[in-house]
Amino acid sequence: MSESDLICQSYLIRYVLPLFIIIICWKYFGKYIQFSKFHDKIVAYVTNRIALSLNKSKYVSTLKEDLFQPLHYLSKTESKLKIVEIGAGSGANFKYYPDNSEIICVEPNGCFNPYFRENLPKRLQDKVKFVIGRAEDMGKIKTGSVDAVVCTLVLCSVDDQAQSLAEIKRILKPGRNFYFFEHVAAPSGLSKLCQYLIKGLWWRVGHCRTFSDTKQIVKEADFSSIDTKQCRVPVPIFVRFMKFGLVGTATK
Ligand SMILES: C[S@@+](CC[C@H](N)C(=O)[O-])C[C@H]1O[C@@H](n2cnc3c(N)ncnc32)[C@H](O)[C@@H]1O
Repeated sequence: MSESDLICQSYLIRYVLPLFIIIICWKYFGKYIQFSKFHDKIVAYVTNRIALSLNKSKYVSTLKEDLFQPLHYLSKTESKLKIVEIGAGSGANFKYYPDNSEIICVEPNGCFNPYFRENLPKRLQDKVKFVIGRAEDMGKIKTGSVDAVVCTLVLCSVDDQAQSLAEIKRILKPGRNFYFFEHVAAPSGLSKLCQYLIKGLWWRVGHCRTFSDTKQIVKEADFSSIDTKQCRVPVPIFVRFMKFGLVGTATK
């Protein structure tokens, strides 16, 4: 056998054969493997790591303390604060809620449950309910029944942003706030180009829009007033193009 035949044979055994075996297995046994469950587990693990590291950032802590400050004022005049947190993930915002909060977390990915329990502070132990559900359909929550709705880094992930905002507005009591902190589209330049180029992959892997025009979407939901400001999301250097953020409140 010549040297080139040997190289060719080794190439076939190392790369083509395993690929062939994977394709055959996928075709015949793929349906028996719960790929979506596996994906959900990975997403829950990674999101929890990201949430923990974001919460350690002084910038994010201060931003969230300011954002949720009105809840603390409100908690002084109300005996109980009914809060709905959408896409609560592993519970990145629990530490910012007042003691007299009663929280419903609407989250489609049940694999967050163990992290969620781990991050739940003692003072809120009996006051939080984890409900499997989606922002687009919160039919089990009565119209005009909650004091606050919270989304942090969620509106980029929901399938239908307009429907989610309609539901958020529906469940809020009149005069109460929707609180949000989201990553958004880059205004222009190289970051915008990167967001555009990677958008398909980002959605497939992380179920997240690289460029969401959140300000416009909240505007279109027709709240009685909106107060937003641009901010920064402290992301790792290799995804710097995702650092653009928006924080704010919308009042019903
Ligand atoms: C990037 S994580 C943010 C988690 C958490 N809010 C935080 O700040 O760390 C996005 C979250 O949105 C949730 N999500 C995705 N689609 C959703 C939907 N349609 N309704 C509600 N939550 C959704 C995901 O399961 C995930 O928990």
